[in-house]
Amino acid sequence: MSSATKSGATTPIPLSRKPAEHAAFGPPDGTRTACIRTFGCQMNVHDSDRIRRMIQDAGYAEVQRYEDADLVILNTCYVRENAVDRVRGHLGELTRLRREGRVKRVALTGCIGAAEESASLQKTYNIDLVLGTHNTYELAEFVGLPTMRETYTPELPGTEGEHSAFVTIMTGCNYQCSYCIVPRVRGRMVCRPIGSVVGEVERLVAGGTNYVTLLGQTVDAWRHEGKRFCDLLEAVSEKAPRVWFTTSHPSNMEDRTLRAIGEKDTIVKRLHLPVQSGSDRMLKLMHRGYKAERYRRKIEVFREAAPEGTLSTDIIVGHPGETEEDHEQTLKLVADCAFDSAYIFKFSPRRGTEAADLPATVPDAVVGRRFLEVLRQVEQNAFARNQRKVGGIEEIYIRHGSTEDGRAIGETWSGHAVHVRTDAAPGSYVEAEIESAGPHVLYAGDAR
Ligand code: 5AD
Ligand code: SF4
Repeated sequence: MSSATKSGATTPIPLSRKPAEHAAFGPPDGTRTACIRTFGCQMNVHDSDRIRRMIQDAGYAEVQRYEDADLVILNTCYVRENAVDRVRGHLGELTRLRREGRVKRVALTGCIGAAEESASLQKTYNIDLVLGTHNTYELAEFVGLPTMRETYTPELPGTEGEHSAFVTIMTGCNYQCSYCIVPRVRGRMVCRPIGSVVGEVERLVAGGTNYVTLLGQTVDAWRHEGKRFCDLLEAVSEKAPRVWFTTSHPSNMEDRTLRAIGEKDTIVKRLHLPVQSGSDRMLKLMHRGYKAERYRRKIEVFREAAPEGTLSTDIIVGHPGETEEDHEQTLKLVADCAFDSAYIFKFSPRRGTEAADLPATVPDAVVGRRFLEVLRQVEQNAFARNQRKVGGIEEIYIRHGSTEDGRAIGETWSGHAVHVRTDAAPGSYVEAEIESAGPHVLYAGDAR
């Protein structure tokens, strides 16, 4: 079971894209099939979009089930240990299907592919291709696309033509948080030139994209030729009708950016600012580079700039050395900041990180209790804040079209997730009254 509260961080993401309508490089009968499973963060979702374009160009039809696929691509996450366990489970299942002659080839990409463990996984499960995060272009050659080395770089739009798209503005991370494997598997920060980002956004919008999310591990650290993240955000917010960005780091987050969220009509008023802990002692041990007070000040600026906006965070419970007092300080910070949602993680030791070798590990039972205490505190705040939305009329952006029960999933300009009764298409807007609210989601009536 995932220990994240609501991130779906280790849940395979359902695929919505139709199979390719053309098969430029594919076999004449076009019968090859591929299944992509995505584990992990939005960066991985974005990488999967690039992978999807490659397999479609190579003439594969995309299928949802392993048993229907000639080729299976597992695009993986390495951030928490249970992510590796989950992937092992999938690899076991694929070994069985291969023995039965169904699945023919398996590729492992993404962060696990870049980690040391990948060699033993490849041997154990006889994986055909293992790729890290920097050489996904090799997958293009693997699926039969020649000379893709130059074409498939992070410069390419991931989801052109879709109603919403992720645009990578930076890769890697220059921080060295004690617990985090990302700098090892994604490398140091590389910022994408502003012209390239804005150019991509323009192309996407011209192709029908209504919602652009700027992506990176620490987007606020983005710099290019004297320009800072806020300049980039403002430039993009002039070009795209709806904009969001993630993930932010409290040390890089400028007040100017927080104010821009409130001021610019096209920016969704939602801030994801991971705090990890409310204790200065723990923040120091984690090498986060800020104190709780600085974090609180940032939140004050955000609440003032966007009073109706939503705030989410990441919290780790049970990092080695975490005492009861540290935990109490996290609970206090959670209450003070009144988060609208939080992704809460039980500490998971990652080989090769500093925290994996630290003494004073916290017993599982204590971690479990602290996790529930933080969760309860977050849900209490979120529920109370969501209740205040009941009775209001909201403009809702439809993210996922309606399911059998006639409800679509959308997002308000304040960044609240809403279930709304409508058959409006993804990418369009509807207006509806909020009828009720839970801790995670608002429920609207019929769209007007
Ligand atoms: N253990 C638990 N949580 C972790 N995260 C990153 N590494 C670990 C780890 N080793 C969490 C952090 C980060 C989020 C993406 O995942 O909270 O912000
Ligand atoms: Fe990991 Fe810290 Fe970088 Fe975030 S800022 S990706 S937690 S090292």
